[in-house]
Amino acid sequence: MSSARARPLVVGTGIAGLWAAWRLASEGHDVLLVTKATLQDSNTAWAQGGIAVALDAADSPAQHAADTIAASDGLADPIAVEVLTREGPDRVRELLELGAVFDRDADGELRFGLEAAHSRARILHAEGDRTGAMLVAALSKVVLGNPRIEVRQHCRVRRLLRRGDRVVGAILLNDAGEPEAVAAPAVILATGGCGQLFEITTNPPVATADGWALAHSAGAVLSHLEFLQFHPTALHVPGVNPAPLLTEALRGAGAWLVDAKGERFVFDADPRGEMAPRDIVARAVAHRAYRGGAFLDARHLPNVEQAFPGVAALVAAHGLSLAHDLLPVAPAMHYAMGGIRTDLAGGSTVAGLWAVGECANTGVHGANRLASNSLLEGLVFADRAGRAVGELLAGSPKVPSFAPAPTDWDAGTDAGPIATAFRARMRSFLTREVGLVRTEPGLAEAELAIADLRRRVPSGAWHTADQLRIAAEIARAARGRRESRGGHRRADFPNPKPRITA
Ligand code: SIN
Repeated sequence: MSSARARPLVVGTGIAGLWAAWRLASEGHDVLLVTKATLQDSNTAWAQGGIAVALDAADSPAQHAADTIAASDGLADPIAVEVLTREGPDRVRELLELGAVFDRDADGELRFGLEAAHSRARILHAEGDRTGAMLVAALSKVVLGNPRIEVRQHCRVRRLLRRGDRVVGAILLNDAGEPEAVAAPAVILATGGCGQLFEITTNPPVATADGWALAHSAGAVLSHLEFLQFHPTALHVPGVNPAPLLTEALRGAGAWLVDAKGERFVFDADPRGEMAPRDIVARAVAHRAYRGGAFLDARHLPNVEQAFPGVAALVAAHGLSLAHDLLPVAPAMHYAMGGIRTDLAGGSTVAGLWAVGECANTGVHGANRLASNSLLEGLVFADRAGRAVGELLAGSPKVPSFAPAPTDWDAGTDAGPIATAFRARMRSFLTREVGLVRTEPGLAEAELAIADLRRRVPSGAWHTADQLRIAAEIARAARGRRESRGGHRRADFPNPKPRITA
């Protein structure tokens, strides 16, 4: 294989991957953009919540930054937050120029919604609760129409290729499992989250922490994996996974959380009630759900089915009505704050490897993410990564040409019943012991159980082995943090440590 035609490789087609590919192409570079399923399969495509951005004249990046830092429970990197909130408005203006269509008021002005822990209404939505679908449609059109971007769907990355101290390419597998080695002067991972490592998640089936496993195998540092966000209001339909999300914007619009007697209960946990930070609301909901039931009540909201057509359709598929029924809810794994540690341009700790979007740990979320900051993070840091890689390419980097070794080509399979059973056990341990509330004995048990599964995983079940690798890292990170902070709650260490440890 020669490096003569080597192009940067972008992996993943949520907002961050699409934007990184577009940014590189707009700077004059050819790009290979791959996704393991289709352009419609990503957390972004499913996003009901919107984009938080300080675009309103009465708002400011500084206020948005203050809210982001307050939500992070002391752990956000103030410089990364400053980048996010300062550059966000320009990125959203560019999005509008590229064809994104957000909801507007009767005067044609952008309409800003409110979500928990924001001090003011600053969330842009599309068609009420179809923001993600709109973004993916708009950006897919942009990348598919750009001759510099080759898009390959149903294309997996089996492994990153490292020569010396840098990532130099990847082994790709097509739909038939046939491998191809590609040289790349830069690989940008935009592979999203890890929700499918848990029993109940709002994430789509593709969210299996692939980027974390690829980066970790290539020697990159993962950080803050213990900080997971559980969404308080997933529709509780036993056995249904992914769980249908009932967007937080419903509570922002005035929906209540009530118990089986019809009484609002979140005020018992926090004076902000339904608008308290997500981890607090999620624990309050879990508590009630196990003691008689927790329900979202949106029946009193005017024209609620028109305002939230996506949610209305999701609940209707389960025989429920947003306008007429109490909706049973339970928390579900939703978002990972940690990930592949990056600098402010998305660069990982390994040369040649970048990470953007949910799979990255840029430092903007700290221990807890402010609602609707993730799409903005995807945009802002994908833009920075695209520019950084563009600069690298302009300097004609020397990417060594190489012949892949036989081990690089091991395609394997995950289809067998043993691998399926192993993943089910992993999900069960993570959900029970590394979920909303954690303890030392539970975390130790999870670590042991996952280590045992890793030892016995069938040979060739590489995707299961990758997920177990990450499950072990999550459990280890959670056990190592002997305090409660943000999304990480330890029953045995109920308070935050006075000194913040990174
Ligand atoms: C939601 O719509 O409730 C989710 C939005 C987000 O996770 O930021």
